[in-house]
Amino acid sequence: MTGTLKKYLMWFANEHLDFRLQPFWIAELSNEEDVKRLASRSVTLRYGIELWSHSDNPIHFHDTLRRLPSNVLEPYARPEVSFKVKVEVFGSSQTQEEKVQRIESFSYLGLRGPVKLNKPDVAFQYIEFYGLDDKNVPDQPYDYYFGRIVTEGQRDLISKLSLKKRIFIGNTSMDSQLSLIMANQGLVKNGSFVFDPFVGSGSLLVAAAQFGGYVLGADIDYLMLHGRSAPTRKQARHKPRHEESVMANMKQYGLSSQYVDLVIADFSLPLWSKTLKLDAIITDPPYGVREAMERLGTTKENKKISEKHLATHMPSKVQYTMTQLLHDLLVFAARHLRIDGRLVTWVPVIRSEYEETNLPKHECLRLLDNSEQILSTNASRRLLTYEKLKEPMVGY
Ligand SMILES: C[S@@+](CC[C@H](N)C(=O)[O-])C[C@H]1O[C@@H](n2cnc3c(N)ncnc32)[C@H](O)[C@@H]1O
Repeated sequence: MTGTLKKYLMWFANEHLDFRLQPFWIAELSNEEDVKRLASRSVTLRYGIELWSHSDNPIHFHDTLRRLPSNVLEPYARPEVSFKVKVEVFGSSQTQEEKVQRIESFSYLGLRGPVKLNKPDVAFQYIEFYGLDDKNVPDQPYDYYFGRIVTEGQRDLISKLSLKKRIFIGNTSMDSQLSLIMANQGLVKNGSFVFDPFVGSGSLLVAAAQFGGYVLGADIDYLMLHGRSAPTRKQARHKPRHEESVMANMKQYGLSSQYVDLVIADFSLPLWSKTLKLDAIITDPPYGVREAMERLGTTKENKKISEKHLATHMPSKVQYTMTQLLHDLLVFAARHLRIDGRLVTWVPVIRSEYEETNLPKHECLRLLDNSEQILSTNASRRLLTYEKLKEPMVGY
Protein backbone atom coordinates (compact mmCIF):
# COMPACT_ATOMS: atom_id res chain seq x y z
CA MET A 1 0.00 0.00 0.00
CA THR A 2 1.39 3.41 -0.98
CA GLY A 3 1.99 6.04 1.76
CA THR A 4 -1.24 7.48 2.99
CA LEU A 5 -3.53 5.72 0.55
CA LYS A 6 -6.36 3.69 2.03
CA LYS A 7 -8.12 0.68 0.59
CA TYR A 8 -11.74 0.94 -0.41
CA LEU A 9 -13.86 -1.85 -1.78
CA MET A 10 -15.97 -0.77 -4.74
CA TRP A 11 -18.88 -3.18 -5.11
CA PHE A 12 -20.45 -3.09 -8.56
CA ALA A 13 -23.83 -4.47 -9.64
CA ASN A 14 -23.69 -7.80 -11.39
CA GLU A 15 -25.26 -6.66 -14.65
CA HIS A 16 -23.97 -5.19 -17.91
CA LEU A 17 -20.89 -7.27 -17.14
CA ASP A 18 -18.65 -5.89 -19.86
CA PHE A 19 -19.13 -2.38 -18.51
CA ARG A 20 -17.24 -3.00 -15.28
CA LEU A 21 -14.13 -4.99 -14.40
CA GLN A 22 -15.28 -7.24 -11.56
CA PRO A 23 -18.13 -7.08 -9.03
CA PHE A 24 -15.53 -6.37 -6.31
CA TRP A 25 -12.70 -4.05 -7.02
CA ILE A 26 -10.23 -2.62 -4.51
CA ALA A 27 -9.34 1.03 -5.03
CA GLU A 28 -6.50 2.78 -3.23
CA LEU A 29 -7.57 6.33 -2.58
CA SER A 30 -6.39 9.11 -0.31
CA ASN A 31 -9.65 9.66 1.50
CA GLU A 32 -13.37 9.15 1.78
CA GLU A 33 -14.15 12.26 -0.24
CA ASP A 34 -12.56 10.62 -3.30
CA VAL A 35 -14.76 7.56 -2.82
CA LYS A 36 -17.82 9.80 -2.59
CA ARG A 37 -16.80 11.70 -5.71
CA LEU A 38 -16.48 8.49 -7.72
CA ALA A 39 -19.76 7.17 -6.33
CA SER A 40 -21.56 10.41 -7.15
CA ARG A 41 -21.25 9.52 -10.85
CA SER A 42 -21.32 5.76 -10.98
CA VAL A 43 -24.57 4.02 -11.84
CA THR A 44 -22.97 0.57 -11.82
CA LEU A 45 -21.57 1.00 -8.29
CA ARG A 46 -23.63 -0.37 -5.41
CA TYR A 47 -21.43 0.68 -2.45
CA GLY A 48 -18.07 2.23 -1.68
CA ILE A 49 -16.74 0.51 1.46
CA GLU A 50 -13.77 1.35 3.69
CA LEU A 51 -12.04 -2.02 3.64
CA TRP A 52 -11.10 -3.27 7.10
CA SER A 53 -10.19 -6.82 6.20
CA HIS A 54 -9.80 -8.87 3.04
CA SER A 55 -8.38 -12.34 2.59
CA ASP A 56 -8.90 -15.62 0.80
CA ASN A 57 -8.25 -17.36 4.11
CA PRO A 58 -10.91 -17.08 6.86
CA ILE A 59 -8.35 -17.31 9.69
CA HIS A 60 -6.24 -14.45 8.34
CA PHE A 61 -9.41 -12.54 7.56
CA HIS A 62 -10.70 -12.66 11.16
CA ASP A 63 -7.18 -12.13 12.63
CA THR A 64 -6.86 -8.87 10.72
CA LEU A 65 -10.22 -7.70 12.06
CA ARG A 66 -9.31 -8.70 15.62
CA ARG A 67 -6.11 -6.67 15.36
CA LEU A 68 -7.79 -3.62 13.86
CA PRO A 69 -6.18 -0.39 15.19
CA SER A 70 -8.45 1.11 17.83
CA ASN A 71 -8.59 4.50 16.04
CA VAL A 72 -10.30 2.73 13.09
CA LEU A 73 -12.85 0.80 15.11
CA GLU A 74 -13.45 2.90 18.22
CA PRO A 75 -15.44 5.83 16.67
CA TYR A 76 -18.02 3.29 15.44
CA ALA A 77 -18.04 1.01 18.49
CA ARG A 78 -19.28 3.63 20.97
CA PRO A 79 -22.53 2.99 22.89
CA GLU A 80 -24.31 5.95 21.28
CA VAL A 81 -23.55 4.84 17.68
CA SER A 82 -26.33 2.67 16.21
CA PHE A 83 -25.21 0.10 13.66
CA LYS A 84 -26.12 -2.80 11.43
CA VAL A 85 -24.08 -5.55 9.77
CA LYS A 86 -25.15 -6.45 6.23
CA VAL A 87 -24.23 -9.83 4.80
CA GLU A 88 -23.75 -10.70 1.14
CA VAL A 89 -23.10 -14.27 0.07
CA PHE A 90 -22.17 -13.59 -3.54
CA GLY A 91 -22.56 -16.53 -5.89
CA SER A 92 -24.19 -18.79 -3.29
CA SER A 93 -27.10 -18.59 -0.87
CA GLN A 94 -27.78 -18.59 2.87
CA THR A 95 -30.67 -19.27 5.21
CA GLN A 96 -31.78 -16.67 7.74
CA GLU A 97 -30.15 -18.78 10.45
CA GLU A 98 -26.82 -18.89 8.61
CA LYS A 99 -27.00 -15.16 8.13
CA VAL A 100 -27.43 -14.59 11.88
CA GLN A 101 -24.51 -16.94 12.58
CA ARG A 102 -22.34 -14.99 10.18
CA ILE A 103 -23.26 -11.70 11.86
CA GLU A 104 -22.57 -13.15 15.30
CA SER A 105 -19.13 -14.34 14.18
CA PHE A 106 -18.06 -10.69 14.43
CA SER A 107 -19.04 -10.28 18.09
CA TYR A 108 -15.33 -9.88 19.00
CA LEU A 109 -15.45 -6.42 17.40
CA GLY A 110 -17.24 -5.28 20.57
CA LEU A 111 -19.70 -2.93 18.92
CA ARG A 112 -21.53 -1.37 21.89
CA GLY A 113 -24.24 0.69 20.17
CA PRO A 114 -27.83 -0.41 19.51
CA VAL A 115 -28.61 -2.42 16.39
CA LYS A 116 -30.80 -0.34 14.06
CA LEU A 117 -31.87 -1.83 10.76
CA ASN A 118 -33.31 1.36 9.27
CA LYS A 119 -30.91 4.26 8.85
CA PRO A 120 -28.29 3.28 11.43
CA ASP A 121 -25.44 5.69 12.19
CA VAL A 122 -23.04 3.21 10.62
CA ALA A 123 -23.50 0.15 8.41
CA PHE A 124 -20.89 -2.58 8.03
CA GLN A 125 -20.74 -4.92 5.08
CA TYR A 126 -19.53 -8.51 5.20
CA ILE A 127 -19.09 -10.29 1.85
CA GLU A 128 -18.27 -13.87 1.00
CA PHE A 129 -17.38 -14.24 -2.67
CA TYR A 130 -18.10 -17.65 -4.23
CA GLY A 131 -17.15 -16.69 -7.78
CA LEU A 132 -19.11 -15.97 -10.92
CA ASP A 133 -19.71 -19.49 -12.18
CA ASP A 134 -23.08 -20.58 -10.80
CA LYS A 135 -22.54 -24.10 -12.14
CA ASN A 136 -19.32 -24.49 -10.15
CA VAL A 137 -19.90 -23.05 -6.71
CA PRO A 138 -17.02 -23.95 -4.36
CA ASP A 139 -17.60 -25.22 -0.78
CA GLN A 140 -15.68 -22.31 0.69
CA PRO A 141 -15.64 -18.71 -0.58
CA TYR A 142 -12.75 -17.49 -2.73
CA ASP A 143 -12.65 -14.20 -0.84
CA TYR A 144 -13.83 -12.62 2.39
CA TYR A 145 -14.34 -8.87 2.78
CA PHE A 146 -15.45 -6.71 5.72
CA GLY A 147 -15.68 -2.96 5.94
CA ARG A 148 -17.64 0.16 6.74
CA ILE A 149 -20.04 1.46 4.09
CA VAL A 150 -18.93 4.96 3.15
CA THR A 151 -21.39 5.72 0.38
CA GLU A 152 -23.80 4.36 -2.20
CA GLY A 153 -23.52 4.67 -5.98
CA GLN A 154 -26.21 6.26 -8.13
CA ARG A 155 -28.38 3.18 -8.66
CA ASP A 156 -31.43 5.30 -7.70
CA LEU A 157 -31.04 7.28 -10.92
CA ILE A 158 -31.80 4.11 -12.90
CA SER A 159 -35.31 3.96 -11.48
CA LYS A 160 -35.73 7.73 -11.41
CA LEU A 161 -35.18 7.83 -15.20
CA SER A 162 -36.77 4.46 -15.92
CA LEU A 163 -38.46 4.10 -19.32
CA LYS A 164 -41.43 2.48 -17.58
CA LYS A 165 -42.50 5.82 -16.16
CA ARG A 166 -41.31 8.08 -18.97
CA ILE A 167 -43.87 10.19 -20.89
CA PHE A 168 -42.38 9.74 -24.36
CA ILE A 169 -40.60 6.61 -25.52
CA GLY A 170 -40.03 4.98 -28.89
CA ASN A 171 -39.39 1.36 -29.76
CA THR A 172 -35.63 1.90 -29.72
CA SER A 173 -35.41 4.06 -26.57
CA MET A 174 -32.26 3.26 -24.62
CA ASP A 175 -32.75 2.01 -21.05
CA SER A 176 -31.82 4.46 -18.33
CA GLN A 177 -28.82 2.54 -17.00
CA LEU A 178 -27.07 2.30 -20.36
CA SER A 179 -27.95 5.92 -21.16
CA LEU A 180 -26.35 7.04 -17.89
CA ILE A 181 -23.29 4.87 -18.58
CA MET A 182 -23.01 6.54 -21.99
CA ALA A 183 -23.18 10.01 -20.41
CA ASN A 184 -20.38 8.95 -18.08
CA GLN A 185 -18.31 7.63 -20.97
CA GLY A 186 -18.85 11.01 -22.63
CA LEU A 187 -17.56 12.74 -19.44
CA VAL A 188 -20.65 14.93 -19.40
CA LYS A 189 -20.51 17.47 -16.61
CA ASN A 190 -22.17 20.76 -15.70
CA GLY A 191 -22.20 22.98 -18.77
CA SER A 192 -21.05 20.36 -21.32
CA PHE A 193 -22.55 20.81 -24.78
CA VAL A 194 -23.85 17.43 -25.94
CA PHE A 195 -25.27 16.38 -29.32
CA ASP A 196 -27.15 13.26 -30.41
CA PRO A 197 -27.50 13.19 -34.22
CA PHE A 198 -29.87 10.16 -34.10
CA VAL A 199 -31.90 11.43 -31.18
CA GLY A 200 -35.17 9.46 -31.51
CA SER A 201 -37.08 9.83 -28.26
CA GLY A 202 -34.09 11.50 -26.63
CA SER A 203 -33.15 8.97 -23.94
CA LEU A 204 -29.46 9.72 -24.29
CA LEU A 205 -30.12 13.43 -23.94
CA VAL A 206 -32.13 12.86 -20.75
CA ALA A 207 -29.15 11.10 -19.15
CA ALA A 208 -26.70 13.75 -20.38
CA ALA A 209 -28.96 16.51 -19.02
CA GLN A 210 -29.15 14.70 -15.67
CA PHE A 211 -25.38 15.18 -15.35
CA GLY A 212 -25.60 18.88 -16.22
CA GLY A 213 -25.15 18.76 -20.01
CA TYR A 214 -26.86 21.21 -22.39
CA VAL A 215 -28.43 18.97 -24.98
CA LEU A 216 -29.08 19.22 -28.70
CA GLY A 217 -30.55 16.51 -30.92
CA ALA A 218 -31.34 15.76 -34.54
CA ASP A 219 -33.29 13.03 -36.30
CA ILE A 220 -34.58 12.35 -39.79
CA ASP A 221 -37.99 11.27 -38.46
CA TYR A 222 -40.27 14.32 -38.62
CA LEU A 223 -43.31 12.47 -37.28
CA MET A 224 -41.50 11.19 -34.22
CA LEU A 225 -39.99 14.54 -33.23
CA HIS A 226 -43.39 16.19 -33.64
CA GLY A 227 -45.16 13.57 -31.53
CA ARG A 228 -47.18 12.37 -34.51
CA SER A 229 -45.99 8.80 -34.79
CA ALA A 230 -48.06 5.94 -33.33
CA PRO A 231 -48.33 6.23 -29.53
CA THR A 232 -45.61 4.33 -27.74
CA ARG A 233 -47.97 2.92 -25.14
CA LYS A 234 -51.43 1.53 -25.73
CA GLN A 235 -52.89 3.39 -22.76
CA ALA A 236 -51.66 6.69 -24.29
CA ARG A 237 -53.92 6.29 -27.34
CA HIS A 238 -56.40 8.93 -26.19
CA LYS A 239 -53.91 11.46 -24.89
CA PRO A 240 -53.19 14.59 -26.92
CA ARG A 241 -50.09 13.63 -28.91
CA HIS A 242 -48.26 16.92 -28.36
CA GLU A 243 -47.68 15.70 -24.80
CA GLU A 244 -45.25 13.14 -26.21
CA SER A 245 -42.01 14.92 -26.93
CA VAL A 246 -38.40 15.08 -25.86
CA MET A 247 -39.18 18.40 -24.15
CA ALA A 248 -42.00 16.73 -22.18
CA ASN A 249 -39.46 14.17 -20.95
CA MET A 250 -37.07 16.92 -19.91
CA LYS A 251 -39.85 18.65 -17.99
CA GLN A 252 -40.84 15.39 -16.35
CA TYR A 253 -37.39 15.22 -14.73
CA GLY A 254 -37.03 18.94 -14.03
CA LEU A 255 -34.33 19.19 -16.71
CA SER A 256 -35.96 21.59 -19.19
CA SER A 257 -33.30 24.24 -18.52
CA GLN A 258 -30.76 21.84 -20.10
CA TYR A 259 -32.68 21.53 -23.39
CA VAL A 260 -31.14 23.45 -26.29
CA ASP A 261 -33.15 22.26 -29.32
CA LEU A 262 -34.10 19.47 -31.69
CA VAL A 263 -33.63 19.64 -35.44
CA ILE A 264 -35.15 17.51 -38.18
CA ALA A 265 -32.07 16.60 -40.16
CA ASP A 266 -30.60 13.84 -42.25
CA PHE A 267 -27.19 13.10 -40.80
CA SER A 268 -25.73 12.22 -44.20
CA LEU A 269 -26.16 15.81 -45.39
CA PRO A 270 -24.01 18.74 -44.25
CA LEU A 271 -25.98 21.13 -42.07
CA TRP A 272 -23.87 22.48 -39.27
CA SER A 273 -21.65 25.50 -39.29
CA LYS A 274 -17.93 24.74 -39.04
CA THR A 275 -17.88 26.77 -35.83
CA LEU A 276 -20.14 24.31 -33.98
CA LYS A 277 -17.97 22.82 -31.23
CA LEU A 278 -19.23 20.06 -28.98
CA ASP A 279 -17.96 18.53 -25.75
CA ALA A 280 -19.58 15.19 -26.48
CA ILE A 281 -21.46 13.33 -29.19
CA ILE A 282 -23.48 10.55 -27.61
CA THR A 283 -25.57 8.47 -29.93
CA ASP A 284 -27.23 5.23 -30.91
CA PRO A 285 -27.41 5.11 -34.70
CA PRO A 286 -30.02 3.03 -36.56
CA TYR A 287 -28.94 -0.58 -37.13
CA GLY A 288 -31.63 -1.37 -39.65
CA VAL A 289 -33.21 -3.94 -37.32
CA ARG A 290 -36.09 -2.08 -35.72
CA GLU A 291 -35.85 1.09 -37.78
CA ALA A 292 -34.92 1.80 -41.37
CA MET A 293 -31.41 3.00 -42.16
CA GLU A 294 -32.21 5.78 -44.52
CA ARG A 295 -30.92 9.03 -45.85
CA LEU A 296 -32.55 11.52 -48.14
CA GLY A 297 -32.05 10.77 -51.84
CA THR A 298 -33.55 9.20 -54.89
CA THR A 299 -32.59 6.65 -57.49
CA LYS A 300 -34.82 8.33 -60.13
CA GLU A 301 -33.07 10.08 -62.96
CA ASN A 302 -35.44 13.03 -63.21
CA LYS A 303 -35.27 14.55 -59.71
CA LYS A 304 -37.22 17.74 -60.42
CA ILE A 305 -40.19 18.50 -58.15
CA SER A 306 -42.96 20.60 -59.66
CA GLU A 307 -43.72 24.06 -58.17
CA LYS A 308 -47.15 23.03 -56.96
CA HIS A 309 -45.79 20.06 -54.99
CA LEU A 310 -42.81 21.87 -53.54
CA ALA A 311 -44.46 23.12 -50.30
CA THR A 312 -45.80 19.73 -49.25
CA HIS A 313 -43.13 17.52 -50.76
CA MET A 314 -41.77 14.80 -48.44
CA PRO A 315 -38.32 13.89 -49.73
CA SER A 316 -37.79 10.28 -50.74
CA LYS A 317 -35.15 8.18 -49.09
CA VAL A 318 -32.52 5.68 -50.08
CA GLN A 319 -30.59 3.15 -48.03
CA TYR A 320 -27.81 4.43 -45.74
CA THR A 321 -25.28 1.68 -45.11
CA MET A 322 -23.77 1.15 -41.68
CA THR A 323 -20.24 1.53 -43.03
CA GLN A 324 -21.07 4.87 -44.64
CA LEU A 325 -22.96 6.07 -41.55
CA LEU A 326 -20.08 5.23 -39.20
CA HIS A 327 -17.61 6.86 -41.55
CA ASP A 328 -19.76 10.02 -41.57
CA LEU A 329 -20.08 9.90 -37.78
CA LEU A 330 -16.32 9.76 -37.20
CA VAL A 331 -15.68 12.52 -39.75
CA PHE A 332 -18.35 14.64 -38.05
CA ALA A 333 -16.82 13.97 -34.61
CA ALA A 334 -13.33 14.86 -35.85
CA ARG A 335 -14.72 18.16 -37.17
CA HIS A 336 -17.07 19.21 -34.42
CA LEU A 337 -15.67 17.89 -31.15
CA ARG A 338 -13.35 20.11 -29.19
CA ILE A 339 -9.93 18.59 -28.53
CA ASP A 340 -10.34 15.93 -25.77
CA GLY A 341 -14.09 15.84 -26.50
CA ARG A 342 -15.66 12.40 -26.77
CA LEU A 343 -17.72 10.41 -29.22
CA VAL A 344 -19.74 7.64 -27.58
CA THR A 345 -21.59 5.39 -29.99
CA TRP A 346 -22.93 1.88 -30.42
CA VAL A 347 -21.99 -0.31 -33.34
CA PRO A 348 -23.81 -3.53 -34.23
CA VAL A 349 -21.65 -6.64 -34.51
CA ILE A 350 -22.07 -10.20 -35.80
CA ARG A 351 -20.19 -11.97 -33.06
CA SER A 352 -18.52 -14.65 -35.16
CA GLU A 353 -17.20 -12.02 -37.57
CA TYR A 354 -16.02 -9.47 -35.01
CA GLU A 355 -12.45 -8.25 -35.20
CA GLU A 356 -11.28 -5.22 -33.31
CA THR A 357 -9.16 -4.11 -36.26
CA ASN A 358 -12.35 -3.66 -38.32
CA LEU A 359 -13.84 -1.06 -35.97
CA PRO A 360 -14.25 2.39 -37.50
CA LYS A 361 -11.11 4.54 -37.35
CA HIS A 362 -10.16 8.16 -37.85
CA GLU A 363 -6.68 9.65 -37.54
CA CYS A 364 -7.99 12.43 -35.26
CA LEU A 365 -9.78 10.08 -32.88
CA ARG A 366 -8.42 7.54 -30.41
CA LEU A 367 -10.54 4.56 -29.35
CA LEU A 368 -10.53 4.57 -25.54
CA ASP A 369 -13.11 1.94 -24.59
CA ASN A 370 -14.93 -0.90 -26.26
CA SER A 371 -17.56 -2.84 -24.30
CA GLU A 372 -19.85 -5.54 -25.59
CA GLN A 373 -23.54 -5.99 -24.87
CA ILE A 374 -24.59 -9.42 -26.05
CA LEU A 375 -28.02 -9.38 -27.70
CA SER A 376 -28.30 -12.99 -28.94
CA THR A 377 -26.02 -15.94 -29.73
CA ASN A 378 -25.01 -14.31 -33.00
CA ALA A 379 -25.47 -10.61 -32.46
CA SER A 380 -24.16 -8.03 -30.08
CA ARG A 381 -23.53 -4.34 -30.04
CA ARG A 382 -20.43 -2.60 -28.84
CA LEU A 383 -20.26 0.69 -27.05
CA LEU A 384 -17.27 2.59 -28.42
CA THR A 385 -15.77 5.66 -26.78
CA TYR A 386 -13.41 7.82 -28.84
CA GLU A 387 -11.45 10.87 -27.76
CA LYS A 388 -10.51 13.64 -30.15
CA LEU A 389 -6.75 14.09 -30.36
CA LYS A 390 -6.26 16.76 -33.00
CA GLU A 391 -8.04 18.90 -35.57
CA PRO A 392 -8.47 17.41 -39.05
CA MET A 393 -6.52 18.88 -41.95
CA VAL A 394 -8.21 21.84 -43.64
CA GLY A 395 -10.85 20.65 -46.09
CA TYR A 396 -11.57 17.39 -44.19
C1 LIG B 1 -31.66 3.57 -32.57
S1 LIG B 1 -32.68 4.93 -32.90
C2 LIG B 1 -32.23 6.06 -31.64
C3 LIG B 1 -33.04 5.87 -30.42
C4 LIG B 1 -32.78 6.91 -29.40
N1 LIG B 1 -31.49 6.74 -28.76
C5 LIG B 1 -33.91 6.92 -28.37
O1 LIG B 1 -33.60 6.92 -27.20
O2 LIG B 1 -35.07 6.92 -28.74
C6 LIG B 1 -32.00 5.65 -34.35
C7 LIG B 1 -32.67 6.89 -34.82
O3 LIG B 1 -31.98 7.33 -35.96
C8 LIG B 1 -32.92 7.98 -36.82
N2 LIG B 1 -32.35 8.02 -38.18
C9 LIG B 1 -32.31 7.03 -39.12
N3 LIG B 1 -31.66 7.46 -40.23
C10 LIG B 1 -31.27 8.74 -39.99
C11 LIG B 1 -30.56 9.73 -40.74
N4 LIG B 1 -30.13 9.48 -41.99
N5 LIG B 1 -30.33 10.93 -40.16
C12 LIG B 1 -30.76 11.21 -38.90
N6 LIG B 1 -31.46 10.33 -38.16
C13 LIG B 1 -31.70 9.11 -38.69
C14 LIG B 1 -34.18 7.14 -36.68
O4 LIG B 1 -35.31 7.93 -37.02
C15 LIG B 1 -34.14 6.76 -35.20
O5 LIG B 1 -34.90 7.64 -34.43
